[in-house]
Amino acid sequence: MPPHPHCHWRDSQAWKQLGLEMSTTSDEACKMYDAILTQVVNHFDDGALGGMAKCLERMTEADPNFVLGLAMKHSFNLQLIHHNYTHAQEVYHMMELSQQPHVKPWERKHAEATKLLSEGKFNDACSLWEDILLDHPKDLLSLKMLHEIYIINGNSCGLRDSIARVAPYWTPDMPHYGDMLAMYGFGLEETNMYDVARQKAQQAGCLNILILILTVFIENDTFVHLSHVLRKLGIMHALEINPYNAWATHCLAHVNEMTGNHKDGLAFMAETEANWNYTSLKSHNYWHWALYYHEMGDFESAAGLLDNQILPTMKETKSWFALTDAASLCFRLEAEDYDIGNRWPQFAEIAKDNKYNHVMPYADFNVALASLRGGDWESAQGMLEGLKKVVKNNEGDIARAYNEVTIPVIEATMAYEKGDFDRAVDILKPLKYQMYRMGGSHAQRDIFNNLTIHAGLRSKRPENQNFASQLLHTRKQLKVNSPLADRLLLGLATA
Ligand SMILES: [Fe+2]
Repeated sequence: MPPHPHCHWRDSQAWKQLGLEMSTTSDEACKMYDAILTQVVNHFDDGALGGMAKCLERMTEADPNFVLGLAMKHSFNLQLIHHNYTHAQEVYHMMELSQQPHVKPWERKHAEATKLLSEGKFNDACSLWEDILLDHPKDLLSLKMLHEIYIINGNSCGLRDSIARVAPYWTPDMPHYGDMLAMYGFGLEETNMYDVARQKAQQAGCLNILILILTVFIENDTFVHLSHVLRKLGIMHALEINPYNAWATHCLAHVNEMTGNHKDGLAFMAETEANWNYTSLKSHNYWHWALYYHEMGDFESAAGLLDNQILPTMKETKSWFALTDAASLCFRLEAEDYDIGNRWPQFAEIAKDNKYNHVMPYADFNVALASLRGGDWESAQGMLEGLKKVVKNNEGDIARAYNEVTIPVIEATMAYEKGDFDRAVDILKPLKYQMYRMGGSHAQRDIFNNLTIHAGLRSKRPENQNFASQLLHTRKQLKVNSPLADRLLLGLATA
């Protein structure tokens, strides 16, 4: 495990100096709050601390009534929204605690936002986090929650502007300055501002030769102290000294993907692999790596990453996040007639376990896709029925997206599976400009582009083939360099 530049956890006085005064009198609770937040934004479990679970335990033991800590704990449990009675009871208890007079107003807002989130009211929760930032622009918890939810509901401008509005209040000597820059870079990338996105991400996580030398020749603790001194002196940007910023690396992976710099992307992922392959972004960054191979037509190399990294991570972690990476890659490869062999059955257990999640449309789609391609139509139908129940009960803001986009897209996928490509195109075509509501990034949502294109190419109707052709031309215009579009257009011309 590499050293993290920020590991001197802040006590209550340090948080107060930052303008984030907390109601707890326990320094241990404040420090563990810092430790948890640091691990979450850096996508890793710090083994030296016993990971996030141990830190949560220590925080709640130090102060069981720490409202802000409880709000953070429940907000990060996204998968428990909607359906979990125990979670709802805990949120209710947190709300009661938040009414005590000593609780600070910004902490109370966090509790209220967490309650709204637990009810699926994403938009209202985001409004509250945005409100907190008016008076507390250095509140990383609000920034992180907005970042998570704006990914879930596909709000690209929100991803960018939630950070842009507060970035001037942050200074390089703040411990999470680089994490803020990495999130900002991702928001800029998702709004097609690729040059400035690259700049922010490089500031946040560039691989600095000096630091490589330092990490080789000095002890970890010395490294941490020296990096702190360098930041204070303004000699280096905060996390220019942290090449392990997995979100910054991930942001650059996106920039290379969207700008068609696939060869640069391959080299960059190979150079930085050891900096992120122990984090929870492991399978996702390997997925980005495999996407370059797929776009370039090197299906064997993409399948190699699938077999050696992405699928094993999915099975080990049982994570729906890894499932989305693996399933969407399998589909892309198979759609171009690559023999996917016996890989789909490997999804069976995890797809079954996640068929009633219903938190993120993009994830639900991939679970349904994996079930269908694995031949488990019953699970896919179960997923569809579950989504219809969410719609019928009007469970939160996401219900509208499920009704108007997700359910039709899954039905189109079922039609595709049955070989009814005309019906698939008929469903997908009017949704062309609505796919952002499936959530995820542009690179993730490219699966819907792929689905529509391959349905069109397989259709017998000339207008559907023309539609696919024009989607490919669009792809070439946007990516500048798209070997995928070139080979599919060539195939169409020579058919
Ligand atoms: Fe990504």
